[in-house]
Amino acid sequence: MIVTTSDLFKQAYGSFAVGAYNINNMEQALGLFEGHMRAQAPFIIQISRGARKYAGVKMLESIIRAAEEMYPEAIFAVHLDHGDEQTCYDCIDSGFYSSVMIDASHAPFEENVAITRRVVERAHARGLSVEAELGMLGGVEEDIQVDEKHAMLTDPDEARAFVEQSGCDSLAVAIGTSHGAYKFAGSQGLHFDRIAAIQSNLPGFPLVMHGSSSVPADEVKRINEAGGALDPSAKGVDDNEFVKAIPLGVTKVNIDTDGRLVWTRVHREYFRDHPDVFDFRKPGKEYIEAYADFIEAKARKLLSHGRLEQVRQALAGEGD
Ligand code: G3H
Ligand code: 13P
Ligand code: ZN
Repeated sequence: MIVTTSDLFKQAYGSFAVGAYNINNMEQALGLFEGHMRAQAPFIIQISRGARKYAGVKMLESIIRAAEEMYPEAIFAVHLDHGDEQTCYDCIDSGFYSSVMIDASHAPFEENVAITRRVVERAHARGLSVEAELGMLGGVEEDIQVDEKHAMLTDPDEARAFVEQSGCDSLAVAIGTSHGAYKFAGSQGLHFDRIAAIQSNLPGFPLVMHGSSSVPADEVKRINEAGGALDPSAKGVDDNEFVKAIPLGVTKVNIDTDGRLVWTRVHREYFRDHPDVFDFRKPGKEYIEAYADFIEAKARKLLSHGRLEQVRQALAGEGD
């Protein structure tokens, strides 16, 4: 059942985080639904502009509708990931999405506010909620001076002003993470002090953590042993730290890279070990299983494991 993102956030805030996973194809969708059913967890499906181009808007919607029928117990929201203004409008008008992300974080503050405000007006008129971004994710390198490093993080005072002026419903904040497989060097990690400062300026307001893949060292090692050439120093977010971020208002956790690593590991190992096989359904099946296992394990770390019934009852109660 597709629900609104704000309904999920109301249930989750302060007690668990909703995992938000990108999908591009059928195998990812099957693993995602299967894993969340095993975990009995609600979730968010994210669609990026790249995914819309790759699979086609209609194909992605059809895959999700088909999965919804195959897994009638599932409770999830459908979200546009890193949208520009026009793609937000396309998704709002399509009637299929629960929420959109307008990513104007590259623009100066006032322009980010103005763009976000326009998207919020169109989205709210159609019952969708809007995630916006403030601060600069990515490119946090160890050799950057501390001051510069902190300058990239979301400023708590700006965050409060941004939310007031833009009317957005949730905020993606820069708290030390970045997209992709190479997030941290040495002892770098999440800036909990910064998350706490943002929360104290925005109590009860859902914060979103992008770039939350863990990039397990063992996964990288296995990929490289099977012919890959990833930098072995690749490092992600320690998923034992989600539990500390949740009471600080982190309500949505975005994970994409880890799923790509599972796909790459399964397929590289499969074709290395079965050089005579060209039936792609065989590694495809293994990937769906492995991804479902990954999703179930992640739900434990996000504390969303076992929350499905609670969310179902709350949604039913609101309908009374
Ligand atoms: O944050 C970006 C997500 O990992 C989606 O990546 O734009 O390559 O689909 P993509
Ligand atoms: P990762 O690259 O860490 O998986 O982040 C994904 C993301 O933030 C999607 O919006
Ligand atoms: Zn992101």
